[in-house]
Amino acid sequence: MATFLRSLHFLILLYVSNIPLAFAQDENQFIYDGFKQAKLQLDGIAAIHGNGLLQLTNISYRQRGNAFYQFPIKFNTTSSSLASSLSFSTNFVFVMVPQMQNFGGHGIAFTISPTRDFTYATPSHYLGLFNSSSNGLTTNHILAIELDAAENPEFGDIDKNHVGIDVNGLKSVESAPTTYFSNEEGKNISLELTSGNPMHLWIDYDEAEKLLNVTLAPTGIPKPNRPLLSTSIDLSQILLESMYVGFSASTGTLTSDQYILGWSFNKSGPAQSLEISRLPPVPQQRERKEKSSLVIMTSLIAVALVLIIVAGGAAYILRRKKYEELREDWEEEHGPHRFSYKNLHKATKGFKHTELLGEGGFGKVYRGILPSSNVQIAVKRVSHNSKQGMKEFVAEIVTMGRLRHRNLVQLLGYCRRRGELLLVYDYMPNGSLDKFLYRNENPKLNWFQRFRIIRGVAAGLLYLHEEWEQVVVHRDVKASNVLLDVELNGRLGDFGLARLYDHGTNPETTHVVGTVGYLAPELTRAGRATTCSDVFAFGAFMLEVACGRRPIELQAQGLPEGLILVDWVSECWRRDAILDASDPRLESNFVVEEMELVLKIGLFCSHAMPTARPSMRQVMQLLDGDVVLPELPRDSAFGAFASSESSDFMSFPFTLASAPSMCSTDSILKSGR
Ligand SMILES: *[C@@H]1O[C@H](CO)[C@@H](O)[C@H](O)[C@H]1NC(C)=O
Ligand SMILES: *[C@@H]1O[C@H](CO)[C@@H](O)[C@H](O)[C@H]1NC(C)=O
Repeated sequence: MATFLRSLHFLILLYVSNIPLAFAQDENQFIYDGFKQAKLQLDGIAAIHGNGLLQLTNISYRQRGNAFYQFPIKFNTTSSSLASSLSFSTNFVFVMVPQMQNFGGHGIAFTISPTRDFTYATPSHYLGLFNSSSNGLTTNHILAIELDAAENPEFGDIDKNHVGIDVNGLKSVESAPTTYFSNEEGKNISLELTSGNPMHLWIDYDEAEKLLNVTLAPTGIPKPNRPLLSTSIDLSQILLESMYVGFSASTGTLTSDQYILGWSFNKSGPAQSLEISRLPPVPQQRERKEKSSLVIMTSLIAVALVLIIVAGGAAYILRRKKYEELREDWEEEHGPHRFSYKNLHKATKGFKHTELLGEGGFGKVYRGILPSSNVQIAVKRVSHNSKQGMKEFVAEIVTMGRLRHRNLVQLLGYCRRRGELLLVYDYMPNGSLDKFLYRNENPKLNWFQRFRIIRGVAAGLLYLHEEWEQVVVHRDVKASNVLLDVELNGRLGDFGLARLYDHGTNPETTHVVGTVGYLAPELTRAGRATTCSDVFAFGAFMLEVACGRRPIELQAQGLPEGLILVDWVSECWRRDAILDASDPRLESNFVVEEMELVLKIGLFCSHAMPTARPSMRQVMQLLDGDVVLPELPRDSAFGAFASSESSDFMSFPFTLASAPSMCSTDSILKSGR
């Protein structure tokens, strides 16, 4: 009985004395295959899932998550009882699942710290351990092993995928790109921290050797023989007596779900290795990755589709806009005369500069070839901003399309756009007459050709004035409006165009259209264009062709004060030397009678009095020699600048065989269609 009692006492004693021993043992060594019942203190956004998974951060921006073992652990004691008070051994399994593939952050740090209060710590690249003022201070007494998935040049980071040893701050004592040593292959193999795959990290410090080894491997393989980092470091200078061990993680603008799956720690010997199969799974990791890549794929496809639709729509709209025309109901009847802008655009190669034939007072003229018929055309782009009168004008254009004469440039049709009217004409390969007259271009026009051109233009103008069903006043007869066809026949172009301006302007205000030097004096006074003012311009044109000079030359050779052609010809005429006015470039190779005739009719047409001028029919008769030109009175006043008083009391002492001319205005408007 006594023996029994003694042994009971012994058992009780043993039991009682074992209790503190067991506690002490527990505080220095633990192994967590999942953290369900773990004695952890969490801070920040760290949380433990129902299955025991420790989540340090989720993908919220700029967050920290801290998880520390609840009890402090004795390090760095001077008490001789613990021989290796600085040695420790630990290993854990972690996963970083980036928000987006290749864009993960920020990092996890295994930490030994005198405090577990990181309230003041900054997330992001401070890993939830330090802030800008505390970083690097020796008073921190912190050792951290960082798994850093972001490159921060400020801390001398080597890349955005490294493992480093940090003492009191984030500038690593030593670091290495994330690799592991494969025992089988005998070489280092790269790993990606943010691959989303679990990895196993071992950290061992041997106080005797003062060596810190950090070893990494993917889960499922045994601990590699060679550590990733093996650094000599004296922890007695860093660690204090009472320290907390745990983890800190952070997110920045780059984020990851960062997990610890299991953790084994031993202060007094090698830490037990974790059994991977017993660790909690990372929630829907695979699914999540697939889902996120699926989401990314679908959103990429959606974005691509939207882009294609938008681009297509924009192209369609631009195309519509590019070829946009103005078309109104009243234009139905002009259908055959209407050209599509798209066709004109194609014909002129998009109104390319190289197709530009010339630029007149009304707009630019382009050469083109109609895609459907291969017919050569000239397209005149006339800018207009007035809606008012457009209907009438287009009606006239179409009406003028019916004008057909071998000495008129045929108007083929039109096209209307916003702010623009396009007129389509027959293409005249030899261009305008003024180029032949004033540029020393070959072939030079001989007298025979010049006379034929004058006669042709006279015939064209006569057709407009008298031979067509309605009277058409040209308003802008001049050398640059006379175009030459293949056979160098003169053809009058641009008829009626001047009227576009009339329609657009207030009828109260007189708006003189035409070209200085060709403008009859009464036009500048009354502003009303008539057949007589056309005749005046034609007179200037005749003199121009015969003399090879412009109606007004500001700096004529040998005539410093400039030259008014009519004045000069009339002066030659007055001194009975009218042939002096002939173009010297002809070198007297002309029929004298014809030259005299042209110069005199030119003067005659330039009479200051409108009714003293011949009609175009009379001009034709004179040119053809059907009528003999009467002698012009020596005191006749010619030209736009002649004083009209002298000619006012002077009635016409000469009459032609036909009736005296009457000045007519356009009749298209008056008669309607
Ligand atoms: C991240 O965790 C915090 C705290 O648990 C929570 O409030 C937040 O909604 C989580 N964010 C995401 C994106 O899951
Ligand atoms: C930095 O952290 C320390 C504690 O580690 C705290 O005292 C200090 O106020 C913090 N500074 C800033 C700027 O947050």
